[in-house]
Amino acid sequence: MSQPTIHLEGKVAIVTGASRGIGESIARTYAKAGAKVVLASRKLEGLTEVQKKIEAEGGEALAVTCHTGSREQIDQLVEKAVERFGKVDVLVNNAATNPYFGPMMLVEELAWDKTFEVNVKGYFYTTRAVVRHLQSRNAPGAIVNVASVAGQMAMPLQGVYAMTKAAVISMTKTLAMELGPANVRVNAIAPGLVDTKFASALTANDEIREMVLSRMAIKKIAQPEDIAGIALLLASDQGSYFTGECVVVDGGWTIG
Ligand SMILES: NC(=O)c1ccc[n+]([C@@H]2O[C@H](COP(=O)([O-])OP(=O)(O)OC[C@H]3O[C@@H](n4cnc5c(N)ncnc54)[C@H](OP(=O)(O)O)[C@@H]3O)[C@@H](O)[C@H]2O)c1
Repeated sequence: MSQPTIHLEGKVAIVTGASRGIGESIARTYAKAGAKVVLASRKLEGLTEVQKKIEAEGGEALAVTCHTGSREQIDQLVEKAVERFGKVDVLVNNAATNPYFGPMMLVEELAWDKTFEVNVKGYFYTTRAVVRHLQSRNAPGAIVNVASVAGQMAMPLQGVYAMTKAAVISMTKTLAMELGPANVRVNAIAPGLVDTKFASALTANDEIREMVLSRMAIKKIAQPEDIAGIALLLASDQGSYFTGECVVVDGGWTIG
């Protein structure tokens, strides 16, 4: 009897923020599942390292520098993906920023704008570029937005970042409704605390780490691989009836 397998054979996926952390793990998982993967972030060096790892694991990948705050670079990213692999089927919006840590009352406009530019506009414009490509082929597709539990709860000192993640969850639901008839599914993942560079200020802070751990059902900080499995299901045909959802992957931190 053959085993049921979740796979991405024949699919091409773009993963933003793929040079490390959660994005790297998703990209490598997708490649192992059979997808051709386009790796995007601002700096080529990290992307090339991930490309080499994927190739050593028997997969196929293309590294493309792209600042997701730039619409021009987003359009070029999709063009380069199509040029190399002929099409795009899956987009993972994962690249995000969090330049300000402090009370919301003291945030400066520059930090506010930067956070919204990358975390909200970046996700939207990358989605729009990929969806326009899907529509030009009359093809189905899957969008996976990496949000955060920060978008669903009070998040003192990270309020602006949290607002952008709430916006991503809202965008996910509306786009799922608007694009569903065209067979494009849109889902979000809300990780809790994951051991990456992005969260190092939190994971390295004994007080914050212990506070979060004490509220978790599973008593460990997630590794990026703990998030990648859900991202695989959401992108795959095995997840074909799943849309408009935000899957919380937080080890039970926010159960209640
Ligand atoms: N770690 C956590 O605890 C946690 C929890 C909940 C949600 N998340 C979410 O998970 C996602 C990934 O975070 P992570 O923890 O994996 O972070 P990470 O390890 O710091 O990786 C961030 C990635 O994004 C890229 N990046 C940053 N700004 C970019 C921009 N403007 N344009 C293109 N690429 C950009 C970085 O590469 P370059 O420097 O080369 O651009 C890097 O590849 C984010 O959406 C974050 O909000 C993380």
